[in-house]
Amino acid sequence: MPYTPSSLMPQSDAASPAGDSVSEPVDAMVAMRGVRKTYGSAEILRSIDLRVGRGEIAAVIGPSGAGKSTLSRLLGLLERPTSGSITIDGHDVTALSESGLRAARREIGTIFQASSLLHRRTARENVALPLEYARVNRHDRRRRVDELLERVGLSHRADAYPAQLSGGERQRVGIARALALGPSLLLSDESTSGLDPATTRTVLALLRELRDDLGLTIVLITHEMEVVRATADTATLLRGGAVVESGPVGELIARPRSRLGVELLPDRHHIESDPDEVVWRVTYTGAQPSLDWLGRLSAENGLDVRLLGGTVESIAGRPAGRVTIATRDDDELPRFLAQLGLHAERVEESAVAPPGEWSGAQRTGVVA
Ligand SMILES: Nc1ncnc2c1ncn2[C@@H]1O[C@H](COP(=O)(O)OP(=O)(O)O)[C@@H](O)[C@H]1O
Ligand SMILES: [Mg+2]
Repeated sequence: MPYTPSSLMPQSDAASPAGDSVSEPVDAMVAMRGVRKTYGSAEILRSIDLRVGRGEIAAVIGPSGAGKSTLSRLLGLLERPTSGSITIDGHDVTALSESGLRAARREIGTIFQASSLLHRRTARENVALPLEYARVNRHDRRRRVDELLERVGLSHRADAYPAQLSGGERQRVGIARALALGPSLLLSDESTSGLDPATTRTVLALLRELRDDLGLTIVLITHEMEVVRATADTATLLRGGAVVESGPVGELIARPRSRLGVELLPDRHHIESDPDEVVWRVTYTGAQPSLDWLGRLSAENGLDVRLLGGTVESIAGRPAGRVTIATRDDDELPRFLAQLGLHAERVEESAVAPPGEWSGAQRTGVVA
């Protein structure tokens, strides 16, 4: 892939070279099929199937030791799978020769933890590193680095050394470096671990902005559910080297008994209902729900509604809620709410989790 100084511009839908077999739908940037990875007799990844759409921010979440970094190294083409196939941007990368791999790696930028910068090099020199390896001439390199530092809002810190930068600034240098060769796929392996919550949010906001402006596809590897909530379009739960669950974030929240859905939007304990009341769980995600639904239930349907509990949040920039209400009069409620874009299901009080059942999961997320 030739070096293109203008690749910070929004990407066109560049066609793959003629003659390549493209077996995935055109909108798939990453497709892993039956991917296994063993080290000696240890099976670290077992039959992973994962598909990431073009321009998607796909979170891979799981506890420590789940195999996330191993998966990241396979996608970064730093290691090969033991078996199975990996397609990136329509090309089967499992079959590539060493020189083919080197070329393909340029399409993939990797952001590591903030500490991965070279300490004896300035911000500018760190960002220039991949361009030096790619033998980009001094003039183009300079121009490209200026452009990259401006893109991540760090022009004024170009000559600072890593030790002189804040954690968030170091991470932005890392992002600029990952973008140096104009990748179409960005991998982030725990790139916000160790950053405080406010800095984490600004780094994640920058990643979303880059996705929107440059059409990047981002695989975001993390053990923190908050990272998924703030940024991801889709989430995949990895545990013991296997995919437990995967899907668009909104769908996971709406999916009954979804582990990820409940972790994303906890089903909190609600106030007890009266014996003669009917209890409903109302769920909404994604597409434009009417957020005034609660008032409208009373105003338009004359229902006497009591709010028993719930969680209402912005997830990946969209409203999402899981709310428990009680009514005395019921039959029309699901139909009315469906018209407003909300899903209501009746909760049998006996089926409500006893106190404590979810609290462990809520406190520790999937790291438990
Ligand atoms: N090069 C390796 N050789 C042997 N075992 C490894 C190697 N890399 C990782 N592992 C093992 O694979 C498992 C998953 O590791 P890793 O992918 O780093 O998980 P995560 O990033 O989810 O914490 C761990 O049990 C780890 O010890
Ligand atoms: Mg890891």
